[in-house]
Amino acid sequence: MKPIMSLKKWASPAQNKTVVVGGAVVAIALLASCPTLASVPQSVQQSCMVCHGQTGENTIYPIVPRLNGQLVQYLAWQLKQFKKHTRADQNAQIYMWPVAQALDQQEIQSLAKYYAAQSPMYSASSPRPGVSAGKQIFLQGIAAKGIPACMACHTVNATGMGTFPRLAGQRYEYLVQQLEYMHAGSRANPIMQPIAEKLTIRQMRDVAAYLSGLH
Ligand code: HEC
Ligand code: HEC
Repeated sequence: MKPIMSLKKWASPAQNKTVVVGGAVVAIALLASCPTLASVPQSVQQSCMVCHGQTGENTIYPIVPRLNGQLVQYLAWQLKQFKKHTRADQNAQIYMWPVAQALDQQEIQSLAKYYAAQSPMYSASSPRPGVSAGKQIFLQGIAAKGIPACMACHTVNATGMGTFPRLAGQRYEYLVQQLEYMHAGSRANPIMQPIAEKLTIRQMRDVAAYLSGLH
């Protein structure tokens, strides 16, 4: 993965939408899409945006998660886990350990707040096969295999709650990758691991197809 900066990401129409409530605030909307805006934390400009994009919406690298509209508590929790090396899957080690190492508690909080405040992630790509099978797994689980309904923790619309992450609109490839990591135990979470362990690759792809299409 080559970290290439995408200048196109700076002018996000989604970002402007909330600001434009009347003709007089158009100027503010334009300012909001300016890369030098003071409210964008310095570390976003110097580091995070290379991979995640300035608003967290990154659309270049399939294995990089979207961060926009993710829950503040979950974002802070994951950054702490990268820093402590308790989230230890391969991509975490390669890409996020060096980044998180340099962050102090205060920066972690302000970065989490910044990305949580961006317009929520959603995917505009056309639906993938497996959506209806995936929807069933998400809403009902698979009783015969002892797999609980994902919505029990991730909420019915997959918008998440506290440290249960938002999954709606997250990237398909990233979701499948994380389910594989949790299945194999390299991302060792005591809650998710026993669940992911029971999913087949087909079921992971189906549920990811459903979730990546939600917004
Ligand atoms: C070199 C590329 C790169 C840079 C720079 C980078 N990230 Fe990441 N980030 C990744 C990748 C890849 C992952 C997925 C890791 C995995 O699979 O475990 C990730 C995962 C994350 C996650 C976990 C999201 C989730 O849904 O679990 C958070 C939070 C995060 N990054 C925040 C940041 C912040 C904040 C910065 C800047 C301080 C940053 N990242 C800089 C590549 C990068
Ligand atoms: C009992 C609660 C619970 C249930 C049920 C549950 N999850 Fe999770 N899920 C979690 C927690 C907690 C995390 C955060 C794990 C961590 O901190 O590493 C998580 C994380 C995830 C992630 C990683 C998201 C990211 O941004 O990296 C995916 C994907 C996921 N869950 C999918 C599912 C699917 C699919 C199901 C149903 C088959 C499911 N979960 C059922 C609690 C739950």
